[in-house]
Amino acid sequence: MICRLFPAYEVTEGAGVTVHRSIGTPALRNLDPFLLLDHFGSDNPDDYIAGFPDHPHRGFITFTYMLDGHMQHRDSMGNQGDLKPGGVQWMKAASGVIHSEMPRQANGLMRGFQLWINLPASEKMSDPAYQEFSAAAIPEVALEAGRVRVLAGEFNGVRGVIEDPATDVLYLDVALPAHASFSLPLDASRHAFVYVFEGSAQLEKDELARHTLAVLEAGDTVEIRAGAEGARFILVAGRPLGEPVVQHGPFVMNTREEIEQAIADYRDGKLVQTRATMHGS
Ligand code: FE2
Repeated sequence: MICRLFPAYEVTEGAGVTVHRSIGTPALRNLDPFLLLDHFGSDNPDDYIAGFPDHPHRGFITFTYMLDGHMQHRDSMGNQGDLKPGGVQWMKAASGVIHSEMPRQANGLMRGFQLWINLPASEKMSDPAYQEFSAAAIPEVALEAGRVRVLAGEFNGVRGVIEDPATDVLYLDVALPAHASFSLPLDASRHAFVYVFEGSAQLEKDELARHTLAVLEAGDTVEIRAGAEGARFILVAGRPLGEPVVQHGPFVMNTREEIEQAIADYRDGKLVQTRATMHGS
Protein backbone atom coordinates (compact mmCIF):
# COMPACT_ATOMS: atom_id res chain seq x y z
CA MET A 1 0.00 0.00 0.00
CA ILE A 2 1.51 3.25 -1.18
CA CYS A 3 -0.13 6.38 0.10
CA ARG A 4 0.42 10.11 -0.11
CA LEU A 5 0.09 12.22 3.05
CA PHE A 6 -1.43 15.68 3.24
CA PRO A 7 -1.40 17.52 6.59
CA ALA A 8 -4.54 19.66 6.84
CA TYR A 9 -4.30 23.44 6.48
CA GLU A 10 -5.92 25.58 9.10
CA VAL A 11 -8.25 28.03 7.38
CA THR A 12 -10.53 30.72 8.72
CA GLU A 13 -14.18 30.21 7.88
CA GLY A 14 -16.28 32.52 10.02
CA ALA A 15 -15.83 33.61 13.61
CA GLY A 16 -15.15 31.13 16.41
CA VAL A 17 -14.69 28.04 14.24
CA THR A 18 -11.38 26.35 13.46
CA VAL A 19 -11.35 24.57 10.12
CA HIS A 20 -8.76 21.99 9.08
CA ARG A 21 -9.00 21.64 5.30
CA SER A 22 -7.30 18.69 3.63
CA ILE A 23 -9.00 18.40 0.22
CA GLY A 24 -9.50 21.64 -1.72
CA THR A 25 -6.08 23.06 -0.82
CA PRO A 26 -3.14 24.17 -3.00
CA ALA A 27 -1.47 20.79 -2.22
CA LEU A 28 -4.55 18.72 -3.07
CA ARG A 29 -7.01 20.63 -5.29
CA ASN A 30 -9.37 17.68 -5.40
CA LEU A 31 -9.46 13.91 -5.23
CA ASP A 32 -12.03 13.03 -7.87
CA PRO A 33 -14.97 12.84 -7.03
CA PHE A 34 -14.16 14.70 -3.77
CA LEU A 35 -13.80 18.45 -4.00
CA LEU A 36 -13.35 19.52 -0.41
CA LEU A 37 -12.94 18.08 3.09
CA ASP A 38 -13.30 20.40 6.08
CA HIS A 39 -12.90 19.21 9.65
CA PHE A 40 -14.41 22.01 11.71
CA GLY A 41 -14.53 22.51 15.43
CA SER A 42 -14.73 24.80 18.39
CA ASP A 43 -13.82 23.97 21.98
CA ASN A 44 -13.98 27.34 23.63
CA PRO A 45 -17.44 27.83 25.18
CA ASP A 46 -16.85 31.60 25.08
CA ASP A 47 -16.42 31.63 21.32
CA TYR A 48 -19.15 33.27 19.34
CA ILE A 49 -19.86 31.01 16.36
CA ALA A 50 -21.07 33.12 13.47
CA GLY A 51 -22.07 30.20 11.26
CA PHE A 52 -23.00 30.40 7.62
CA PRO A 53 -26.17 32.32 6.82
CA ASP A 54 -27.96 31.84 3.47
CA HIS A 55 -25.54 30.86 0.70
CA PRO A 56 -25.88 28.99 -2.61
CA HIS A 57 -24.53 25.70 -3.99
CA ARG A 58 -24.79 24.24 -7.49
CA GLY A 59 -23.33 21.18 -9.20
CA PHE A 60 -22.38 18.87 -6.30
CA ILE A 61 -23.36 17.26 -2.98
CA THR A 62 -22.53 18.44 0.53
CA PHE A 63 -22.14 15.59 3.06
CA THR A 64 -22.08 16.79 6.69
CA TYR A 65 -21.29 14.60 9.69
CA MET A 66 -21.59 16.11 13.17
CA LEU A 67 -19.42 14.64 15.92
CA ASP A 68 -20.18 17.03 18.78
CA GLY A 69 -22.54 19.93 19.13
CA HIS A 70 -25.18 20.50 16.51
CA MET A 71 -26.00 22.30 13.27
CA GLN A 72 -29.16 24.25 12.74
CA HIS A 73 -30.01 24.30 9.07
CA ARG A 74 -32.65 25.53 6.68
CA ASP A 75 -32.76 25.24 2.89
CA SER A 76 -34.66 26.27 -0.22
CA MET A 77 -36.03 22.72 -0.55
CA GLY A 78 -38.08 23.36 2.58
CA ASN A 79 -35.97 21.27 4.94
CA GLN A 80 -35.17 22.73 8.29
CA GLY A 81 -33.90 21.20 11.45
CA ASP A 82 -31.10 20.59 13.84
CA LEU A 83 -28.42 18.03 13.04
CA LYS A 84 -27.35 16.52 16.37
CA PRO A 85 -24.15 14.70 17.47
CA GLY A 86 -23.52 11.65 15.30
CA GLY A 87 -26.10 12.80 12.77
CA VAL A 88 -25.46 12.87 9.05
CA GLN A 89 -26.84 15.05 6.27
CA TRP A 90 -26.51 14.45 2.51
CA MET A 91 -27.64 17.37 0.42
CA LYS A 92 -27.57 17.07 -3.35
CA ALA A 93 -27.52 20.71 -4.41
CA ALA A 94 -27.49 19.77 -8.14
CA SER A 95 -29.29 22.56 -10.08
CA GLY A 96 -29.32 24.82 -7.05
CA VAL A 97 -29.95 25.10 -3.33
CA ILE A 98 -29.68 28.07 -1.00
CA HIS A 99 -29.22 27.12 2.63
CA SER A 100 -27.96 28.27 6.01
CA GLU A 101 -25.72 26.21 8.29
CA MET A 102 -25.42 27.47 11.87
CA PRO A 103 -23.20 25.27 14.07
CA ARG A 104 -23.86 25.41 17.82
CA GLN A 105 -21.86 24.08 20.74
CA ALA A 106 -23.17 21.54 23.22
CA ASN A 107 -21.29 21.27 26.53
CA GLY A 108 -18.71 23.68 25.12
CA LEU A 109 -17.94 21.48 22.12
CA MET A 110 -18.71 21.51 18.41
CA ARG A 111 -16.97 19.25 15.87
CA GLY A 112 -17.78 17.77 12.52
CA PHE A 113 -16.91 17.20 8.89
CA GLN A 114 -18.12 18.58 5.62
CA LEU A 115 -17.25 16.72 2.44
CA TRP A 116 -18.11 18.00 -1.05
CA ILE A 117 -18.83 15.23 -3.55
CA ASN A 118 -18.88 16.12 -7.23
CA LEU A 119 -21.76 15.17 -9.51
CA PRO A 120 -21.41 13.89 -13.09
CA ALA A 121 -22.25 16.36 -15.88
CA SER A 122 -25.52 14.52 -16.48
CA GLU A 123 -26.65 15.24 -12.88
CA LYS A 124 -25.38 18.76 -12.28
CA MET A 125 -28.64 20.40 -13.36
CA SER A 126 -30.92 17.65 -12.01
CA ASP A 127 -33.34 18.19 -9.13
CA PRO A 128 -31.95 18.66 -5.63
CA ALA A 129 -32.40 15.87 -3.10
CA TYR A 130 -31.91 15.47 0.62
CA GLN A 131 -31.22 12.70 3.16
CA GLU A 132 -30.76 13.15 6.89
CA PHE A 133 -30.33 10.55 9.64
CA SER A 134 -29.80 10.78 13.38
CA ALA A 135 -27.02 8.90 15.20
CA ALA A 136 -29.48 6.22 16.36
CA ALA A 137 -30.22 5.25 12.73
CA ILE A 138 -26.58 4.72 11.74
CA PRO A 139 -25.49 1.06 11.87
CA GLU A 140 -22.44 0.19 13.93
CA VAL A 141 -20.22 -2.86 13.31
CA ALA A 142 -18.17 -4.22 16.24
CA LEU A 143 -14.59 -5.17 15.41
CA GLU A 144 -12.46 -7.55 17.44
CA ALA A 145 -11.26 -4.34 19.05
CA GLY A 146 -13.02 -1.12 18.12
CA ARG A 147 -16.06 -0.28 16.04
CA VAL A 148 -17.11 1.07 12.64
CA ARG A 149 -20.08 3.34 11.96
CA VAL A 150 -21.35 2.86 8.42
CA LEU A 151 -22.63 6.22 7.18
CA ALA A 152 -22.71 5.37 3.47
CA GLY A 153 -21.84 2.33 1.36
CA GLU A 154 -21.29 -1.15 2.73
CA PHE A 155 -18.92 -2.61 5.30
CA ASN A 156 -18.86 -6.31 6.36
CA GLY A 157 -22.24 -6.81 4.71
CA VAL A 158 -23.79 -3.92 6.63
CA ARG A 159 -25.35 -1.19 4.51
CA GLY A 160 -25.04 2.45 5.64
CA VAL A 161 -27.98 4.84 5.82
CA ILE A 162 -27.01 7.31 3.09
CA GLU A 163 -27.49 6.20 -0.51
CA ASP A 164 -25.14 7.94 -2.92
CA PRO A 165 -25.95 6.53 -6.37
CA ALA A 166 -23.89 8.84 -8.60
CA THR A 167 -20.43 8.08 -7.18
CA ASP A 168 -21.29 5.18 -4.85
CA VAL A 169 -19.59 6.73 -1.82
CA LEU A 170 -18.37 4.63 1.09
CA TYR A 171 -18.10 6.67 4.30
CA LEU A 172 -16.94 4.97 7.52
CA ASP A 173 -16.17 6.37 10.98
CA VAL A 174 -13.65 3.99 12.56
CA ALA A 175 -12.64 4.02 16.26
CA LEU A 176 -9.79 1.78 17.43
CA PRO A 177 -8.36 1.32 20.93
CA ALA A 178 -4.57 1.44 21.41
CA HIS A 179 -2.63 -0.79 18.99
CA ALA A 180 -5.77 -2.35 17.45
CA SER A 181 -5.83 -3.01 13.69
CA PHE A 182 -8.29 -2.42 10.92
CA SER A 183 -8.07 -3.72 7.38
CA LEU A 184 -10.22 -3.31 4.30
CA PRO A 185 -9.71 -4.29 0.65
CA LEU A 186 -10.16 -1.26 -1.60
CA ASP A 187 -11.91 -1.53 -4.93
CA ALA A 188 -9.53 -0.54 -7.74
CA SER A 189 -12.24 1.51 -9.45
CA ARG A 190 -12.42 3.99 -6.57
CA HIS A 191 -10.42 6.79 -5.05
CA ALA A 192 -10.07 6.51 -1.29
CA PHE A 193 -8.67 8.42 1.67
CA VAL A 194 -8.28 8.20 5.42
CA TYR A 195 -8.36 11.23 7.71
CA VAL A 196 -7.26 10.83 11.34
CA PHE A 197 -9.06 13.14 13.77
CA GLU A 198 -8.25 11.58 17.15
CA GLY A 199 -5.06 9.89 18.33
CA SER A 200 -2.68 8.62 15.67
CA ALA A 201 -2.28 5.61 13.44
CA GLN A 202 0.26 3.68 11.46
CA LEU A 203 -0.38 2.82 7.82
CA GLU A 204 2.39 0.36 7.02
CA LYS A 205 5.53 2.54 7.21
CA ASP A 206 3.66 5.83 7.38
CA GLU A 207 2.77 7.55 10.64
CA LEU A 208 -0.61 9.27 10.38
CA ALA A 209 -0.73 12.08 12.90
CA ARG A 210 -3.94 13.80 13.88
CA HIS A 211 -5.28 16.12 11.13
CA THR A 212 -3.51 14.18 8.39
CA LEU A 213 -5.18 12.93 5.24
CA ALA A 214 -3.75 9.86 3.51
CA VAL A 215 -4.70 9.26 -0.12
CA LEU A 216 -4.79 5.49 -0.49
CA GLU A 217 -3.76 3.39 -3.43
CA ALA A 218 -6.80 1.62 -4.81
CA GLY A 219 -6.81 -2.07 -5.62
CA ASP A 220 -4.92 -2.92 -2.46
CA THR A 221 -5.87 -3.73 1.13
CA VAL A 222 -5.50 -0.88 3.57
CA GLU A 223 -4.08 -1.96 6.94
CA ILE A 224 -4.21 0.59 9.72
CA ARG A 225 -2.92 0.16 13.25
CA ALA A 226 -3.83 2.56 16.04
CA GLY A 227 -1.10 4.28 18.05
CA ALA A 228 -0.66 4.23 21.83
CA GLU A 229 -3.63 6.56 22.39
CA GLY A 230 -5.91 4.73 19.98
CA ALA A 231 -7.20 6.30 16.79
CA ARG A 232 -10.36 7.59 15.29
CA PHE A 233 -10.54 8.28 11.55
CA ILE A 234 -12.90 8.49 8.65
CA LEU A 235 -12.31 6.26 5.64
CA VAL A 236 -14.03 7.49 2.48
CA ALA A 237 -14.04 6.09 -1.06
CA GLY A 238 -15.89 7.00 -4.24
CA ARG A 239 -15.97 6.38 -7.97
CA PRO A 240 -14.04 9.06 -9.88
CA LEU A 241 -15.91 10.94 -12.62
CA GLY A 242 -12.97 11.80 -14.89
CA GLU A 243 -14.68 15.01 -16.04
CA PRO A 244 -13.40 18.60 -16.14
CA VAL A 245 -13.88 20.53 -12.87
CA VAL A 246 -14.46 24.27 -13.07
CA GLN A 247 -15.04 25.73 -9.63
CA HIS A 248 -16.05 29.19 -8.54
CA GLY A 249 -16.62 29.19 -4.78
CA PRO A 250 -19.92 27.37 -4.14
CA PHE A 251 -20.53 26.52 -7.82
CA VAL A 252 -18.78 23.49 -9.34
CA MET A 253 -19.51 22.83 -13.00
CA ASN A 254 -17.74 21.42 -16.09
CA THR A 255 -17.23 24.62 -18.10
CA ARG A 256 -16.60 28.33 -17.60
CA GLU A 257 -19.90 29.11 -19.37
CA GLU A 258 -21.84 26.99 -16.87
CA ILE A 259 -20.17 28.89 -14.00
CA GLU A 260 -21.13 32.22 -15.59
CA GLN A 261 -24.70 30.92 -15.90
CA ALA A 262 -24.70 29.94 -12.20
CA ILE A 263 -23.46 33.39 -11.18
CA ALA A 264 -26.10 35.06 -13.38
CA ASP A 265 -28.86 32.76 -12.10
CA TYR A 266 -27.93 33.51 -8.49
CA ARG A 267 -27.82 37.26 -9.19
CA ASP A 268 -31.23 37.09 -10.90
CA GLY A 269 -32.84 34.98 -8.16
CA LYS A 270 -33.09 31.95 -10.48
CA LEU A 271 -30.56 29.64 -8.83
CA VAL A 272 -33.22 27.60 -7.07
CA GLN A 273 -35.18 25.89 -9.82
CA THR A 274 -37.03 23.25 -7.90
CA ARG A 275 -37.77 22.05 -4.41
CA ALA A 276 -37.30 18.48 -3.26
CA THR A 277 -38.64 16.15 -0.65
CA MET A 278 -36.75 14.78 2.30
CA HIS A 279 -35.87 11.16 2.99
CA GLY A 280 -34.54 10.12 6.36
CA SER A 281 -35.34 9.63 9.99
FE1 FE2 B 1 -23.32 25.16 2.46
